[in-house]
Amino acid sequence: MRRILVTSALPYANGSIHLGHLVEYLQTDIWVRFQKMLGHEVHYICADDTHGTPIMLRAEKEGITPDELISRVSIEHKNDFNKFFINFDYYGSTNDQATKEIASDIYIRLKNNAKLISQKTIEQFYDPEKMLFLSDRYVRGTCPKCQSEDQYGDSCEVCGATYRPTELINPISALSGVTPIRKESDHYFFQLSDPRCLNFLEKWVLQPNRLQPEAKNKIKEWFVAGFSDWDISRDSPYFGFEIPDSPGKYFYVWLDAPIGYFGSFKNLCEKKSLDFESYVSPQKSEKEKTELIHFIGKDILYFHALFFPAILHFAGYRTPTQIYAHGFLTINGQKMSKSRGTFITANDYIRSELNPEWLRYYYFSKLNSSLQDIDLNFDELLLKVNGDLIGKFINIASRTSKFINSQFNNTLCSIVNGKLLVEIRNKEAVISQHYDNREFSKALREIMRLADNVNQFIDTEKPWKLKETNSKRLQIVCSTALEAFRLLTLYLKPVLPVTCCKIEQFLNIKSLTWDDINNRLEDGHKIENYTHLMHRADKKCIDKLESTPSSPKPKKDLSINNKKMETKNSTDIYQQNISIADFNRVKLKIARITKAEEVGGADKLLRLHLDLGENITRKVLAGIKLGYKTTDLEGKLTVMVTNLEPRKMKFGISEGMVLAASDDSGGIFLLSPDSGAEPGMEVK
Ligand code: MSP
Ligand code: ZN
Repeated sequence: MRRILVTSALPYANGSIHLGHLVEYLQTDIWVRFQKMLGHEVHYICADDTHGTPIMLRAEKEGITPDELISRVSIEHKNDFNKFFINFDYYGSTNDQATKEIASDIYIRLKNNAKLISQKTIEQFYDPEKMLFLSDRYVRGTCPKCQSEDQYGDSCEVCGATYRPTELINPISALSGVTPIRKESDHYFFQLSDPRCLNFLEKWVLQPNRLQPEAKNKIKEWFVAGFSDWDISRDSPYFGFEIPDSPGKYFYVWLDAPIGYFGSFKNLCEKKSLDFESYVSPQKSEKEKTELIHFIGKDILYFHALFFPAILHFAGYRTPTQIYAHGFLTINGQKMSKSRGTFITANDYIRSELNPEWLRYYYFSKLNSSLQDIDLNFDELLLKVNGDLIGKFINIASRTSKFINSQFNNTLCSIVNGKLLVEIRNKEAVISQHYDNREFSKALREIMRLADNVNQFIDTEKPWKLKETNSKRLQIVCSTALEAFRLLTLYLKPVLPVTCCKIEQFLNIKSLTWDDINNRLEDGHKIENYTHLMHRADKKCIDKLESTPSSPKPKKDLSINNKKMETKNSTDIYQQNISIADFNRVKLKIARITKAEEVGGADKLLRLHLDLGENITRKVLAGIKLGYKTTDLEGKLTVMVTNLEPRKMKFGISEGMVLAASDDSGGIFLLSPDSGAEPGMEVK
């Protein structure tokens, strides 16, 4: 049995989970579910990455503390991951005590034992108004090479030049708009350029299987370019962990972020009484070996393949066994971008009523072990879901189970045609190899080829004809097809956990593990009645998703251009306005009230049953009881907000909202359209 600690990169706590992030979390989740099905001991760990200046500034902007911000975002992130069935064994926060303790321990060992921490005085830009040292991204000015205005502090977007922020002409703080001053401060550095580090890393990187070939090549380029020491400290004010014995100095977010893997795992170990040391101490012998595997995006390779192993090694901890990097997601061939409307959050996807398992399946069909980018194309998603997943896989059950249900009292018989099943079982080794190597698209190709064979078998046998001519053969054919379906379900279970669980119920079998490849549905086994397993993907949902992209990124409120708006009053007025894009996100439709009911125990609420046309109905709790009798409302047309998240209220779930006006004296006036409007019409 393998013992593996698996991580996905820790998402920043200042943004929402989007479809790009999900490439990584779904890739990891599928891999972990596969390993668990094999019976290995696997712990899948993740956490929010909570420290740093952007988080501090975002909290300040929202008028809350960073702690309040990160608690709120943690709930949002966990909720998003749950919706996509990403099954972490522990989801923590880098702000946890456990991470703080390990970060301090590592730092002290690096300083006192390895003597790899140095102190230097550096000069940086400082914003005298915000009283903050400015990192490169918060300084803007004119490019020293091409004179283009309003460029970032590290590079010019026009001519591509890279430079130091102090070289900018007319530098300005992007936070306040004032001219920054130069100021000195003491910083701590991890001495990555020390020959001991270079020797160690050279060997570490070249270990077989440690890194993908493309990643190894990239790192070799970095070796050629040479390394500088790494600045691991930041000055106050900073949201992070204070450096031991250095008041006012904080660990840079990227120092404690990867240590958050260990901190979160430590919390899990305490909860489940696991042996933390055996996973984080240098590995003694092959027999006692535990594995540490990090799934990451290719953009953060430097941190995971250089800094992290080096600090771990020299602090006396174990280093990662493997790093699995993946490419970036593009959407319809474009980089994800808010301005192009290709920035889609996990929540946008869910709100558009697209099935999360479709995305799991789609990413599975696209992913492999390389660093290549992958493209999400919604037309292709529709084709794959409807054509392959439903048309080939689910269809096997829907084509055959009805005969077993109606003709044989749900009972299967022994199977004669073994060839088809032998072929499916024979592919087990290849398919599990592909899973283990993260060659998901190859695994799926094998699985779908097998599904094709099963469908061909059904086509040849024609159960709909056998029903009239040969009842015994009909039972054999359908029993064979359902056994094949069970085997394919096993192969797809890491990808489609919910559907496969429904299938297990339908087949009346225990939760499948990989070993069940060797079992079979016995003669006389009874299945349940077939119930619908998965809806077809509907173009309308995609249209809905593409027409409701996330609200554009809030403009940097204190950016140079907005400087004039900064006086308190003008900001207040500004906040009362919303953009047309914000307004367009609210979907209003005409609805007919088909029924209005009193809600037991509620003084003000009525439950309205609404018809939105095209067989769409919704139930809404509306605070209009004081203004209307239930009988007055039935048959009436009104306006409903259809894309409000369902809300769990004390008296039940409300799936939206109807619009009504009210006044101070308690009058309530439901909004109704003029005659001629129909349920389902959009209100624009
Ligand atoms: N907080 C750091 C990671 C710290 S790990 C100790 C970070 N956070 S992130 O939110 O920006 O990204 C989290 C993960 O999602 C990273 O592995 C990143 O590569 C991945 N992705 C973010 N955008 C992505 C795409 N568009 N496509 C694929 N993966 C993407 O980096
Ligand atoms: Zn330039």
